[in-house]
Amino acid sequence: MPSTRHAARLAQQAGLCIAMGATALGAQSSGYGLPQTDARMNRFVDSVLARLTLEEKLGQLTQYRGPWGLTGPQTREAGAADIKAGRVGSFLGVRGAAATRELQTLAVTQSRTRIPVLFADDIVHGWRTIFPVPLAEAASFNPEIAERTARVAAVEGAAAGIHWTFAPMVDITREPRWGRIVEGAGEDPYLGSIIAAAKVRGFQGRSLRDSLSLMATAKHFVGYGAAEGGRDYNTTDIPLRTLHEMYLPPFEAAVKAGARSIMAAFNEIDGVPMHANKRLIDGVLRDRWRWDGILVSDYTGIMELLQHGLSADSAAVGRLALDAGVDVDMVSNIFYKDVAREVRAGRLPVAVVDSAVRRVLRTKYELGLFTDPYKGSSTAREQALTLTAESRSLARTAAQQSIVLLRNERNTLPLTAAGKTIAVIGALASDARSSLGGWAAAGRAEDAVTVLAGIRNAVGSRGRVLYAAGAPVEEQDTSGFADAVQLAREADVVVLVVGEHQDMSAEARNRSSLDLPGVQQQLVERIYAVGKPTVAVLMNGRPLSIPWMASNVPAIIESWYLGVEHGNAVADVLFGTVNPSGKLPVTFPRTVGQIPIYYNHKNTGRPSDAKERYTSQYIDVPFTPLYPFGHGLSYTTFSYSAPILSRAKAGTHESVDVSVTVTNSGSRTGEEVVQLYVRDDAGSVTRPVKELKGFTRVSLAPGERRPVTFRLTPELLAFYDLQYRKVVEPGTFSIMVGGSSEQLQRTTLELTGRVHVLDARPIR
Ligand code: BGC
Repeated sequence: MPSTRHAARLAQQAGLCIAMGATALGAQSSGYGLPQTDARMNRFVDSVLARLTLEEKLGQLTQYRGPWGLTGPQTREAGAADIKAGRVGSFLGVRGAAATRELQTLAVTQSRTRIPVLFADDIVHGWRTIFPVPLAEAASFNPEIAERTARVAAVEGAAAGIHWTFAPMVDITREPRWGRIVEGAGEDPYLGSIIAAAKVRGFQGRSLRDSLSLMATAKHFVGYGAAEGGRDYNTTDIPLRTLHEMYLPPFEAAVKAGARSIMAAFNEIDGVPMHANKRLIDGVLRDRWRWDGILVSDYTGIMELLQHGLSADSAAVGRLALDAGVDVDMVSNIFYKDVAREVRAGRLPVAVVDSAVRRVLRTKYELGLFTDPYKGSSTAREQALTLTAESRSLARTAAQQSIVLLRNERNTLPLTAAGKTIAVIGALASDARSSLGGWAAAGRAEDAVTVLAGIRNAVGSRGRVLYAAGAPVEEQDTSGFADAVQLAREADVVVLVVGEHQDMSAEARNRSSLDLPGVQQQLVERIYAVGKPTVAVLMNGRPLSIPWMASNVPAIIESWYLGVEHGNAVADVLFGTVNPSGKLPVTFPRTVGQIPIYYNHKNTGRPSDAKERYTSQYIDVPFTPLYPFGHGLSYTTFSYSAPILSRAKAGTHESVDVSVTVTNSGSRTGEEVVQLYVRDDAGSVTRPVKELKGFTRVSLAPGERRPVTFRLTPELLAFYDLQYRKVVEPGTFSIMVGGSSEQLQRTTLELTGRVHVLDARPIR
């Protein structure tokens, strides 16, 4: 049925005339993404709502899975009968323009309500053009790249008929054991917030109504990354201030950038599972931040309230979730099955159901589905817009900027190819699926350039490239060692590709060790002993503890999982076509026993000091990390002047500019990520020893120098005081600028005057 007729009929049924060109709300959102009241939309939504039976309302709140939607326990897939009966509000994992069109046609022609369904999927780091995994992309410290890759992901996903992505994952984590660390931006709330906002802008584009926009979902609300022991889904124990200062800021940034959806997390906080956490969902999101988007449960998250032990009765947990502010039930099917009974028995006001349905209908309206339920998707459009040369080229740039050069002794890198024999060793070097990384949506292994292929592309006929797997990634199998050693002997240089395969850092893929898995450490040592110049390329989705490599292998590249252009980008860096510029978004420990280890820690009363016995440290390993947050080398060097303040004294309500001059003191053009850190030297509550408060990328030719200026606003200097208000306190602040969290030049800022209260409402 033509879309305009459909909309016109709905409008007619609603006794209203909807203007087909109604402006999308996403484009108009003010500060917190709160749409300006659109009376016409609200009237339309109310009139649709008034026509729905209780079961149809609950159907709107129900998300079924399609064939590609199994990301947890087996749950029921919806079929045509469910759509016709009005039991489906949205789908997870129905892929491709043909499949989505077919189901949408059923919804808008065969169901009594004629309400279009929403198609959701996990479009995390690309749809078919797969970009670097989020942890890698965060290493670029480049929000512009993060926004552009999300835009391409949205274009490809929307062309395939998807409306709603379950991304960005904005969980801050200090837990490298946790498999899902790969999906987020790492350990820092400031970097995490900048990236979160960029991703939301990229996915949602100029307007949700645009046919190539996806609604973004900030997930998982909240504290998921604090899982005890790094075990996915586990309990968290997060103090109130830490929750508001570390874990909530990226959500607030996503909301401010206009994110229209948020997903609840599987974990509990302080005894209350997030799917029933009214204090945080209603209290923080809806009341404090005035956010009015849709809150979707995680996969079976509502059903899991039974296992959490909140009740033995599924109707009761459905009621708890709805009442807490969860709008959409992803695959538990409890809202649909059990909640009508609760309403009819008077245990849940229908007004609670209505509010959730209104939010879902409003979303459908904002996305333009009442005007065109297909949003222009077609197989022809899908083909034309998918995996284009431009998106591949963006994938290569993003991959290049995500690579972190961890070590480069005696200028081992870059390598020369001409006339050389290069031995590439390691199973991961030819593992195309791992190059893509987890959550690869419609990505295909055959689209990915492996490290081996990338090196071959770069060397061409100028040199010789030999390959041996050496050892599998996880198994205890040394049978390939002899061949690999033989290969290394024949070569002028060895590139060892080691780490984890992509499914080792993923949902439910937690590790108790951060060492190289399987026999790879032995392989590294055997190959190193051959005595050839050796370079290690890491592929992994979490920090690895590689102290032996860090003190023996002269050059180490962190390549994470970089997507379709993985191998080309690695080769660009290995051979120096590209000068590496990524920085670590997360601390690398020396051993798993140091966890939690993160840069923005507190000072304690006995700060770590190797020379003093009674200080906070270990007797068997240094207290310092292997590689700190913000670390990343270049083939050139950069020097920093001391930071200069626009004024050394300011009022607590005033902003101050911090300037530094960065010079390329080496002999190659390079890009540097200039980082600004702050410490509140004394506060009414203790403050971290440093916190990232600004960063920018600069590109400098050899000898070139560039002034860089950051603005420090009161917002950036604020924290939650003894009364849990957001304040800036007078006193001194250490202001630090440099190229890593541990190589900083400092100065002091003094703030004077009264305590400046930015938000007097105490956090709760
Ligand atoms: C994950 C979510 C994801 C959902 C749907 C769950 O297992 O926790 O992040 O969006 O599945 O695929």
